[in-house]
Amino acid sequence: MNLKDYIRVIPDFPEAGISFKDITTLLQNGAGYKKAIDELKELVAHLKIDVIAGPEARGFVVGAPLAYALGVGFIPIRKKGKLPYETIEAGYNLEYGNDSLAMHTDAIQKGQNVLIADDLLATGGTISTSVNLVRQLGGNIVGAAFLIELTHLNGREKLTDVEVLTLLSYE
Ligand code: PRP
Repeated sequence: MNLKDYIRVIPDFPEAGISFKDITTLLQNGAGYKKAIDELKELVAHLKIDVIAGPEARGFVVGAPLAYALGVGFIPIRKKGKLPYETIEAGYNLEYGNDSLAMHTDAIQKGQNVLIADDLLATGGTISTSVNLVRQLGGNIVGAAFLIELTHLNGREKLTDVEVLTLLSYE
């Protein structure tokens, strides 16, 4: 089965006009989930990665198994107010709504090669904010890897200085 066959598309969720790419149908299928992580591992095989950082919540279900598969650590980028230690924060706008993301100040050692991982690149707000936080902490962004890219939202334009790698595209 093709990876796209595992993904369910829900029209008008969470609001009219949004075509939601539901990855729960991929995650609940062992073969589909494994195929997605295996293909992402291939996609980033040329990069030198010390650690993966992924934004809450769906970035965890992509970034953490990818980190495990590569034998590197995983850093959660969380929504504001969730991390218990000292943090840095940055605000961002989403395809729908806005929020703030946070990282622990000691999450990254200066000069570490960091791959950002998430399920979806839409407007690019989440990932450009994640990139900024990692760079503020001294991390070297080696790339950003996604299961899905919504090409019409032009998220890549916010990431001109980052190598963007995606498995699946939707218009
Ligand atoms: C979704 C998705 C990406 C982001 C993409 O997360 O998982 O992180 O939006 O959108 P962007 O490119 O326009 O920033 P969401 O904030 O809905 O949170 P969730 O993972 O907790 O559902």
